[in-house]
Amino acid sequence: MAVGTAAALLAALGGILWLAARRFVGSSVQRLHQGGDSGLMRGKTVLITGANSGLGRATAAELLRLGARVIMGCRDRERAEEAAGQLRREVCPTGGPDSGPNSGGAGEVVVKELDLASLSSVRSFCQEMLQEEPRLDVLINNAGVFQCPYMKTEDGFEMQFGVNHLGHFLLTNLLLGLLKSSAPSRIVVVSSKLYKYGDINFEDLNSEQSYNKSFCYSRSKLANILFTRELARRLEGTSVSVNVLHPGIVRTNLGRHIHIPLLVRPLFNLVSWAFFKTPEEGAQTAVYLASSPEVEGVSGKYFGDCKEEELLPKAMDESVARKLWDISEVMVGILK
Ligand SMILES: NC(=O)c1ccc[n+]([C@@H]2O[C@H](COP(=O)([O-])OP(=O)(O)OC[C@H]3O[C@@H](n4cnc5c(N)ncnc54)[C@H](OP(=O)(O)O)[C@@H]3O)[C@@H](O)[C@H]2O)c1
Ligand SMILES: *[C@@H]1O[C@H](CO)[C@@H](O)[C@H](O)[C@H]1NC(C)=O
Repeated sequence: MAVGTAAALLAALGGILWLAARRFVGSSVQRLHQGGDSGLMRGKTVLITGANSGLGRATAAELLRLGARVIMGCRDRERAEEAAGQLRREVCPTGGPDSGPNSGGAGEVVVKELDLASLSSVRSFCQEMLQEEPRLDVLINNAGVFQCPYMKTEDGFEMQFGVNHLGHFLLTNLLLGLLKSSAPSRIVVVSSKLYKYGDINFEDLNSEQSYNKSFCYSRSKLANILFTRELARRLEGTSVSVNVLHPGIVRTNLGRHIHIPLLVRPLFNLVSWAFFKTPEEGAQTAVYLASSPEVEGVSGKYFGDCKEEELLPKAMDESVARKLWDISEVMVGILK
């Protein structure tokens, strides 16, 4: 009996050690593209949506380290200021750009209010951007909602389609002039592998006939890819590039709407700790697409782990991409 218990304990301990080893090895593999040129982004302005949490926050930290001026576009000023304060303490302990030109200096962080679930918020945010920012070198469409209960945005769009796709669609269109005048410039779109389970069902884009939260998340992430490809086509011949990525499975606040029973939580935490990426690891591809000279001029492509990946045919369908673009213009009210 005692021997059996001891064996079980040993097995459990071994399992945990194995998971820890995996964790450790995993993290060194993901750091391939980090480090290097610490001033790579100096003088560049980057806008990151949803930069107060998870991947957006980790992307902000890394680009700050590379010297960028990072604008955090966030819906909640308090949460955003708190994250900005932490970033300043972590990344710019010497006080940022004011600490002298050769201090190895990290960039600076600015918070601006942006609620992607409100077209009027997107519009006033962009107005402020155009008034206050002389340039925009990189736009990172990162904010996202995952499998929330049925909700509508201020303008009556299904929440996931509204925030993940339509809000960013309007944002990008309103900032395109600034991006063009700052060229060469880049747009980076954060999608997900779950796009595979989505479809653009044009007859019910607001899911009024039926709501399936997994389908709607996947649909919004498919829309991110189709948007990227259509925009890349429209931007051919300009020096503005746009690429889309999937970050892998990352430990963030994205699962806030998923209920995990109390008893299963410790197991879930263990598994996510062992197998999910950290936000820093998950952010590598976004940082790479935003900053690396390797992808200068590359546009319309899909990336994972800092490498180009293939897409399913449904994500490359040009006629669906065009139709989605046209309908999105009508929905957000920018049809000329
Ligand atoms: N985590 C993963 O495993 C995973 C996998 C594939 C793709 N992704 C994608 O990665 C992106 C970032 O997600 P994450 O994992 O970092 O999750 P997260 O920690 O929940 O961060 C999401 C961010 O989006 C913001 N946001 C949500 N609704 C918004 C709105 N209406 N207006 C403005 N901002 C809004 C959130 O702001 P609040 O903090 O104020 O709520 C938060 O800053 C998402 O596009 C997601 O689809 C994540
Ligand atoms: C909801 O959508 C997902 C993904 O498209 C699908 O796998 C699942 O079967 C759907 N659920 C229902 C109840 O239709």
